Amino acid sequence: MVVLGIETSCDETGIGLYDTGKGLLAHTLHSQIALHAAYGGVVPELASRDHIRRIASLLEMALEQANLSRTDIDMVAYTQGPGLAGALLVGASFGCSLALALGKPAVGIHHLEGHLLSPLLSPVPPDFPFVALLVSGGHTQLMQVDGVAQYILLGETLDDAAGEAFDKSAKLLGLPYPGGAALSELAESGRTGVCRLPRPLLHSGDLNFSFSGLKTALLTMTRKDLPMDDARRADVARGFVDAAVDVLVAKCARALDETALRRLVVAGGVGANRQLRAGLDKMAEERDARVYYPDLAFCTDNGAMIALAGAMRLLHVPESITRDYRFTVRPRWSLQEVVRSPAPASLPQTRRKGVRRGGQS
Ligand code: KG4
Ligand code: ZN
Repeated sequence: MVVLGIETSCDETGIGLYDTGKGLLAHTLHSQIALHAAYGGVVPELASRDHIRRIASLLEMALEQANLSRTDIDMVAYTQGPGLAGALLVGASFGCSLALALGKPAVGIHHLEGHLLSPLLSPVPPDFPFVALLVSGGHTQLMQVDGVAQYILLGETLDDAAGEAFDKSAKLLGLPYPGGAALSELAESGRTGVCRLPRPLLHSGDLNFSFSGLKTALLTMTRKDLPMDDARRADVARGFVDAAVDVLVAKCARALDETALRRLVVAGGVGANRQLRAGLDKMAEERDARVYYPDLAFCTDNGAMIALAGAMRLLHVPESITRDYRFTVRPRWSLQEVVRSPAPASLPQTRRKGVRRGGQS
């Protein structure tokens, strides 16, 4: 069965074609980073218009790569939420219209479910269950993933997402949007310990995060130091990255310890961060655990992970697939709503509370 995946939740138009027997056949992507850079952030209206401009040709390119025609598609999976309403509507309307024309089913996918399952696209995928750290521009969550549609929220950010804090801090240091990767690169030449920034909620005793105070501390520090030379900017960047990474690594360690799991999957754009990867690898080694990173192309938003999530639903939760082509998008949508079964009784009481909390960052 060939599943078409469509991702348009934010500033990437992504198409994926996943075969339930053969795996990923093709995927194509257009990033709108250049379009939004001039504004220092994503402009929703421009994002929607650009998705409209790109989506059909990206589908044709993916079909060509996979040597398939439209009639070979057996099911359409599209990102239904969370994300920008107008942007989501482009993928949902395109996907449902195509499915209707082909007489094939269409299914709305939760964007974070795509990220959670994206490590299954790797040549050596992790077995279930695993702990997943979702770190992107819009989300920072720790989840326990027991299987397809079996997700337990362990902790999440109370304010800014990690990627958002990277991007805002990068902007304060004069780096172009989205500054996460550039900030990380600048930090490489900075000195550890020279600019020490706070590590919010490091000792909070739970698995939640908070990054807005860290960004504010960086703002205060940069204001004191004006004008800053390049060496100082690098030290400040280093201070920020060290603080953010320390917190992320400590919470992942706690999540592994509390769940007694030994597999950690890292998904989302910040998962590309070199310092974070080094910190997580070291922490995992100390615990005899293993960290799985999806390929860089599947860390950030893409259509392949949506096609994969659709295929997994087809295989494991077929009752969720319908031929109802009336669609709606869900800009705010808790991942807990797509959970199939309640938390296993063996989980510690404190963690099971998290299941009811739900929500996305
Ligand atoms: O998952 P993603 O592509 O999009 C969503 O937000 O859903 O993540 C993008 C985020 C941005 O905030 C970007 O600055 C950050 O990931 N990012 C990085 C790195 N590469 C991308 N942050 C830190 N270090 C990086 N190397
Ligand atoms: Zn994402």
